[in-house]
Amino acid sequence: MSHPDHYLLAGVMGWPVMHSRSPKLHNYWLARHGLIGAYVPLAIKESGLEKALRALPALGFAGCNLTIPHKEQAMKIVDHLDPVAKRIGAMNCVIVGADGSLSGTNNDGFGYIASIREAKPDWRADAGPVTVLGAGGAARAVLVSLIDEGAKEIRLTNRTAARADDLAKEFGGPIKTVAWNDRHDALQGAAMVINTTSQGMVGQPDLDLKLDLLPQAALVSDIVYIPLETPLLSAARQRGNTTVNGLGMLLHQARPAFKAWFGVMPEVTSELRKMIEATI
Ligand code: ATR
Repeated sequence: MSHPDHYLLAGVMGWPVMHSRSPKLHNYWLARHGLIGAYVPLAIKESGLEKALRALPALGFAGCNLTIPHKEQAMKIVDHLDPVAKRIGAMNCVIVGADGSLSGTNNDGFGYIASIREAKPDWRADAGPVTVLGAGGAARAVLVSLIDEGAKEIRLTNRTAARADDLAKEFGGPIKTVAWNDRHDALQGAAMVINTTSQGMVGQPDLDLKLDLLPQAALVSDIVYIPLETPLLSAARQRGNTTVNGLGMLLHQARPAFKAWFGVMPEVTSELRKMIEATI
């Protein structure tokens, strides 16, 4: 019997990290593609990030994902940072090069768009105005991906207006800010509405958004995935809108990382989705 010359390794660095669903996801794909290896949780505190990242090549890791609190700090450590991660202002993936160098990227925007296309294959960012709620880290990935997909009008609204104004200045182009008090009106004529705030997440209050003016044809997307159906998505579904929950973004962002590390672009199968849903 022949043996591969090394055991494939990748993981997710974070603190806390044991709640991460990424090991289940990547280990499913490793098994499905008959690859001998493992994807492991790496419990690394902030103070240990640089040493841990620099240890990856020596240990034979193909790379790793990054989660809280490392997504920004890692940008200062890696040898190469791709333009998408720079614009998002955060990294969620490290790839170890053949020469042992570390490259950083961010696949959240890719994951977001792929999750929308999974629900609506003919989706286009320029189909009409897109209303985005929130201006935090998650909003940055969503906004960059919408702009790159050719969105023509993005109505951005955030409780703290200054954060939305800063993003509009930084990204420019199609972003127009709307006062938080006027958010309900910002749904008029929209083709899509996206919640990137933490509202509606388990343990948080519901997002306070009146859907009356939202066209029934509009797509309603929530990046929250615990619960899978937030009060926003439930209300939207009941009035006939197509809805997309946040789980798809988590599943799809993992695909290009797996491809970069192990050479195979994996698929989000219904079996995989069910397996991860069962952990929520
Ligand atoms: P993340 O990186 O996950 O996006 P974040 O940077 O803390 O996290 O951003 C959280 C988002 O949820 C922000 O847009 C935040 O609004 P503020 O910028 O005003 O803080 C939004 N958010 C949090 N609590 C909120 C609340 N009670 N009502 C409305 N928006 C809220």
